[in-house]
Parts: sequence; structure tokens; C-alpha cells
Amino acid sequence: MLEYGPMDIKNVTVVGVGQMGNGIAHVFAQSGLETTLVDVNAGRLEAAFATITKNMERQVKKGGLSEEEKKAALSRLEMDTDLEAAAKDADLIIEAVPEILDLKKKIFETADGVCGTGTIFASNTSSLPITQLAASTKRPGKVIGMHFMNPVPVMKLVEIIRGVDTTDDTYASIHTLTETLGKTPACSEDFPGFIANRILMPMINEACFALMEGVAKKEDIDTVMKLGMNHPMGPLALADFIGLDTCLYILEVLHDGLGDPKYRPCPLLRKMVEAGRFGRKTGRGFYDYEKK
Ligand code: CAA
Repeated sequence: MLEYGPMDIKNVTVVGVGQMGNGIAHVFAQSGLETTLVDVNAGRLEAAFATITKNMERQVKKGGLSEEEKKAALSRLEMDTDLEAAAKDADLIIEAVPEILDLKKKIFETADGVCGTGTIFASNTSSLPITQLAASTKRPGKVIGMHFMNPVPVMKLVEIIRGVDTTDDTYASIHTLTETLGKTPACSEDFPGFIANRILMPMINEACFALMEGVAKKEDIDTVMKLGMNHPMGPLALADFIGLDTCLYILEVLHDGLGDPKYRPCPLLRKMVEAGRFGRKTGRGFYDYEKK
């Protein structure tokens, strides 16, 4: 099939049902797109549908969504354990699986075998190279980064990352789609950590060093950044929210990819991860969430 200009995206397949995959499927369905959420595990898909329903109900209670809009959005949302079947008719495949390059490549290779040549492949990766993912497909011009922020239904930003071969039409299609979702795009070239994490992670890492070196208590570090800089959360609370394992992983990508010692992960962050204290998702990070 020949491509004539940017694509009108109506049918989307989201792969992966972690927090990000759920949120991405939520906003696509809410914005009028036919959305299929794919995961190998049927139980996880069921749980994802329940979570999305709960989050939409919260929006209804707060007045951001009507009961009818919620029902219509949920009726546009399908669940499937078969990637090939779900990907076949999609205009866009977006993957939000764990940050394992080979896993992401495998998903794109599978989709490459069944999708039409016009289908765009997007990755929600926080820091892996889009160009490398693109090179594993037969459509490098159609591969792009579409990086959402957590919690996806709330955060207005989508960071769009252009790989070396991403075409202008692919970029224009994703830029328009981002605006259809009611979000604001920001464009980054394909360098480690892109824009968001290249700037955010050194701040979080520095907060860890300040804590480790005894500059201040965790509450004081967070209070300074919350009230002094008007951040909605302090850096240590934000690290717990993102996941300390994820923060460490992204810092390692920055350190390896840019080769600059300023990105070396703080030993305290590493120790917390080794202890299994990943933040909110394990009940304990810099703060204790089990008490609540
Ligand atoms: N779905 C739908 N709505 C949600 C939601 C969800 N999952 N989570 C929260 N909300 C809504 C609430 O209903 C509420 O709506 P109203 O404003 O209409 O009342 C609003 O979001 C605020 O929520 P709360 O009142 O419960 O809590 P809060 O005011 O403390 O805000 C927060 C919570 C939005 C998370 C806020 O603290 C915040 O913005 N924190 C910073 C988040 C951030 O920096 N995210 C980026 C992380 S980095 C990343 O994601 C990328 C990466 O690669 C690491």
C-alpha cells in the first residue's frame, strides 16, 4: 500500500497492561478511538479492565466525564490475548511492556508480520533507543516514540521521539493524534533519556545523594521542592511513585549511553532497589505505604 501524507488513526492496539498500558488504553478509548488492549495473561487483562473502569468512575464523580461518555468509552475498549489477531487491522500499535529491548523488538517483529505497510509502530519506552527498535522492523520510517507520563489520564504531556529514519508523515500523524487525545506534544531527537528523563532523573538522583550525605531528612528535601519550586510532589515521593527500580534503570541507561559520571546512580538508590524497596508498588520505598 502506498502512503499519501499523514495517517488518520482510528484503530489502536496497546500492548502491555502495566500502569502505563492501562492509562494509554484509557485515554485512547475516551478520545473516541477503537482500542484493543493486549497481554499474554487473561487474568491481568481482566484486572486492567476493572482498573480502567474504576479510574473512569473517578472522573465521573469529579465531573470530568459523564456516565454516558464513560459507557461509550468502555464499549470501545476490547481485551485480547492474541497479538496477531489484535494487530491485524490496527492503524497504530503502541507497546508499553517492561523495558526489555528484546521483548519490545519481538512484539514489533510479530506485528510486522501481520500489519499492513501503513501501520505505525510506537513505543512508550522511557529511555530505550527508538532507532534500534525501528531497525528490527521492515518499516523503520513508521516507528516512533510516544512517551506518556504517569498518571496518563491526568498528565498533559506526550514526548514524541523521532528515530533516525522516522518520516515526517509518521511524525505528523502522531503529533495530530496527541492533540486529539487532548494532550500537548513535545518533540525530542533520539538520545538517551530523551528530554523528560534526562532532566528529571538527575534531580531525583541528586535528592538521593542529599539524603545519603545527611544534608536533610527526606521530608525536608521533598518540602523544599514542593513548596519552594511548586512541584506537585517532592523528588523522593516522585521516585516512589515512578518506582525506584525504574529510576535506577533509567539512570543506568543515561550513564551507559552518555558516558558521563554525572549520571552515576546514587548508591543509596541502588541499595533500596537491592532491598526490594521499589516504592509504592511494593508498599515501601523512601516512604512507607503499607500503613495506609
Ligand atoms: N486516572 C484518572 N484520574 C486520575 C488518576 C488516574 N489514574 N490519578 C489521579 N487522577 C485525578 C484525580 O481524580 C484528580 O482529579 P481532579 O483534579 O479533577 O480532582 C487529579 O487527578 C488529582 O488527583 P488527586 O486529587 O488524587 O491527587 P493529587 O492532587 O495529589 O495529584 C498527581 C496526584 C496527579 C499524581 C500529582 O501529585 C502529580 O502531578 N504528581 C507528579 C506526577 C509526575 O511528575 N508524573 C510524571 C512522572 S515521570 C513519568 O511518568 C515518565 C517516566 O518515564 C518515568
